[in-house]
Amino acid sequence: MCGIIGYVGDKEIVPVLLKGLHCLEYRGYDSAGIAIHEGYNLNIIKSIGKISKLEEVLKGKKRKESDRNNCGIGHTRWATHGEPSDINAHPHFDTDEKIAVVHNGIIRNYQEVKEKLISLGIKFKTQTDTEVIVQLISQNMKDSRSVLKAISKTITELDGSYAIAVLFKNEPDKIYAVRKEAPLVIGIGIGENYIASDSTTLSQFVDKVIRLKDNEITIISKNGVELYNLQEEKIKKESQIVAKTKDILDKKGFKHYLAKEINEQAEVVSNLLKDFLPNSKDPIQFNYLKLDPSFLKNLDRILILACGTAYHAGLVAKHVLETLTSIPTEVQFASEYLSSNAVLTNKSLVIGISQSGETADTLAAVKKAVSKGAKLLGVTNRADSEIANLAKDHLILSKAGVEVSVAATKTFMAQLLSLYLLAIYIAESTNQANKTTLTNLKQALRELPQLIDQTLLRAESYQEQIVQYADKPDFVFIGRGIGYPIALEAALKLKELSYIHASGYASGEMKHGPIAVLDPNVPVVSICIPGENYDRVIQNSLEAKSRSAPMIAVAVDGDKKADSIFNTVLHIPQIAEIVSPFLTVIPLQFLSYYIAEHLGRDVDQPRNLAKSVTVE
Ligand code: F6R
Repeated sequence: MCGIIGYVGDKEIVPVLLKGLHCLEYRGYDSAGIAIHEGYNLNIIKSIGKISKLEEVLKGKKRKESDRNNCGIGHTRWATHGEPSDINAHPHFDTDEKIAVVHNGIIRNYQEVKEKLISLGIKFKTQTDTEVIVQLISQNMKDSRSVLKAISKTITELDGSYAIAVLFKNEPDKIYAVRKEAPLVIGIGIGENYIASDSTTLSQFVDKVIRLKDNEITIISKNGVELYNLQEEKIKKESQIVAKTKDILDKKGFKHYLAKEINEQAEVVSNLLKDFLPNSKDPIQFNYLKLDPSFLKNLDRILILACGTAYHAGLVAKHVLETLTSIPTEVQFASEYLSSNAVLTNKSLVIGISQSGETADTLAAVKKAVSKGAKLLGVTNRADSEIANLAKDHLILSKAGVEVSVAATKTFMAQLLSLYLLAIYIAESTNQANKTTLTNLKQALRELPQLIDQTLLRAESYQEQIVQYADKPDFVFIGRGIGYPIALEAALKLKELSYIHASGYASGEMKHGPIAVLDPNVPVVSICIPGENYDRVIQNSLEAKSRSAPMIAVAVDGDKKADSIFNTVLHIPQIAEIVSPFLTVIPLQFLSYYIAEHLGRDVDQPRNLAKSVTVE
């Protein structure tokens, strides 16, 4: 994880680095720091905590006009090796303080390299794997004819995934950078150049970017960008126009990005429908999908690989895919698939879902699946991500816009819709579902923006109903069939936002063990939508009620049975069970949000988390 920014040009360096770091804060916020040239010195200023903390530290440090050199690098950290602390914060110096490094990723053989360096007399100050990089570069400088040589030699000695940016005291106008299996993009300006962990950040500063590939080394200066391969041969790459993402840090009047993003969900769905399902009579229009209908007709199985919230979207998709296409579909945590021996053939389709497109577990899992002969289809929110690159011929862009809050909300909604559309697309391509069923489903999807809007308008009433439960130490969420993944998603959201322990269960499983945890301090939240599963969910809810648990339901307007059974009913508009996840999730997102807010939690940046999880 972690975010990297680098700048060289005429602008005052500190504000540029700080603005970049704010855009990258979603990647981690355990500590932050910058390295800049000042006079003849290379200085590092860093601090445990968020970027606002670093800003405070920097306010106390005035730079002399004569010292100004506007070349520097910055970093925001999610701790992997070594606890969050001032000392472990990046950038890191070599022993002589002539080289400063920031790093995103992990160095797998760091212990080995560290021992070798210690045997040469080098003393380490931090517990990070990053310090190994800077000390190794320093060591390699001793017998290398150039800085470039020292960096390429260092790279060949490191095993891991990383994006690295390096400043050298003796080269005050240059930034060196390299990447392997971690994102790093160059921003091309006029009389200034940048590097950053993502192009969205760069779009705040420049119009053009160059994406680095694995093991490509760049040297950026004010007026130029040079690129080399590991053999130190110059290489050429064309720049690309970067999609402008304006005002990503604007909360648009909401108190938190999370509230803004929950409230954008009707718009997200409406935009996706405009592109992919402009009317319910025509087939789905996926521009980036070139799946051969004969391949789809002969599919032996579909395997969905994802993590966290994206995994929950995958569980909903399994239900829809099997209902519409009858193709056996399995969903696995990407991290678990890496340890499994799941059978895949060249007749299998693997769907990798990742909003960031950079999740290390998901990337490793889809690569493993492809190596077994399966075809990869990617669903991501980031067109410039690694998963988009891996799945370029079979890609669905979920187009939810930038999601700043660490907890996924609107991107979950966009994943859901993308996957429903994919299921219809496969059913249409293979003629597997009844035409009327498909038209009715498409019609139901087209009605969603209005229904989502009506649900969002109930936020205040949800808040009034929910905060009374904020002191409960444990929550249980239950659902059946298509409601079960939403119970899992609700439990995840409550845990990450409020730090209250919560579990999601298939409602029928309660009696097989979990029911033992129930007492008046453990609210049970049931998802009970009229349809195939309704009676059984009600039955399981009554069993919970008999154990004195406070009972909350998500139920449709006019559901008198729910009103009579539950202590609190979070009403949603009437909706067909098959599309109900689009609505049932909304009051549950609000439940987590309002409880977290009531408890004074850091809603947009919950402790210990980062949005882009680039370590396995
Ligand atoms: C939860 C959340 C995470 C992500 C997970 C996968 O709110 O955001 O569980 O869903 O880390 O991330 P992506 O979708 O970027 O692969």
